[in-house]
Amino acid sequence: MILGIETSCDDTCAALVTRDGQIHANVIASQGLLHERYGGVVPEIASRQHLEVVDSVIDDALERADATLEDVDEVAVTRGPGLIGALLVGVSSAKALAAARRLPLSPVDHLHGHVTASMLGEDPIEPPFLALVASGGHTFLARVDDPGEYSVLGQTLDDAAGEAFDKGARLLGLGYPGGPEIDRLARAGDPAAFDFPRSQPGDGLDFSFSGLKTALLYTVQRTGSVPDCCADLAASYQRAIVDALIARLEQAVEREGLDRVALGGGVAANRELRERAARLGARVWVPPMELCTDNAAMIAGAARFGEPIAYPGYLDLDAAARL
Ligand code: KG4
Ligand code: ZN
Repeated sequence: MILGIETSCDDTCAALVTRDGQIHANVIASQGLLHERYGGVVPEIASRQHLEVVDSVIDDALERADATLEDVDEVAVTRGPGLIGALLVGVSSAKALAAARRLPLSPVDHLHGHVTASMLGEDPIEPPFLALVASGGHTFLARVDDPGEYSVLGQTLDDAAGEAFDKGARLLGLGYPGGPEIDRLARAGDPAAFDFPRSQPGDGLDFSFSGLKTALLYTVQRTGSVPDCCADLAASYQRAIVDALIARLEQAVEREGLDRVALGGGVAANRELRERAARLGARVWVPPMELCTDNAAMIAGAARFGEPIAYPGYLDLDAAARL
């Protein structure tokens, strides 16, 4: 089994995954509540909390998989991108665990993990496919021909889609993270009540969400009292984000001539996005929520497609905020 460790942002995660992609444990210790009062992730608090809980999260994963370290033949860890202090906790733990048993270690690109999350489990997607990854930290479209690689077809030029949800929710006086709040409220609102911009920058497949956030700010200032039309604002704002994501996905399906699509990242939980993606005319894989948001199963899963570093070659491996 591969032991995966992920600490790139605000979730401390450990998982056990077999070479054929079966998940035996996928433990996620969310720090959400610690950061809630600040309206976003505080890097220093995140690193300290990872340090507090990483060992028990790994123990918990082993226990749930009914396994011991004896059953682990490779350690995989997120090397980046992410918060450097947070990443360092995972990388140091992985190196220590692997070195103590002379196991090989795989440094994994966090985004490769998101891209290949749908390749886990009973009904894995098979290349070639398109992946739309939309989370609080990243939003991009990728093409996967070989599971060990991906090529980015387009990405956000400014805010990530999840960030647009979170910042929008803040303007509407809702809680953090904002995506689930807007998703819930939007169900009671009219998505055509307000006209928000749908930006499609350039001739390629890039995204841009910062203008949308500014448009919401002006609308909130103009309408004055948010509570009266909050559901309509949420529904219209969500419609604009989903329209932008679906438009690019549609263009990518057409341009690349692919009929398999994987969604990933926290925003893949969005009901409207899921419903619209299902009507694209391609077969769509949406992994369960615990594989959409940050998790270590996707990290162990991605490690299956790369070459691990043998002991002691990884002893000087470093985390990288950017890859
Ligand atoms: O993947 P994730 O847990 O963390 C990052 O790697 O960023 O994604 C979290 C993001 C947050 O921005 C959150 O607002 C968004 O995913 N999100 C949603 C929904 N659930 C979570 N956005 C829209 N609709 C949802 N139901
Ligand atoms: Zn992520």
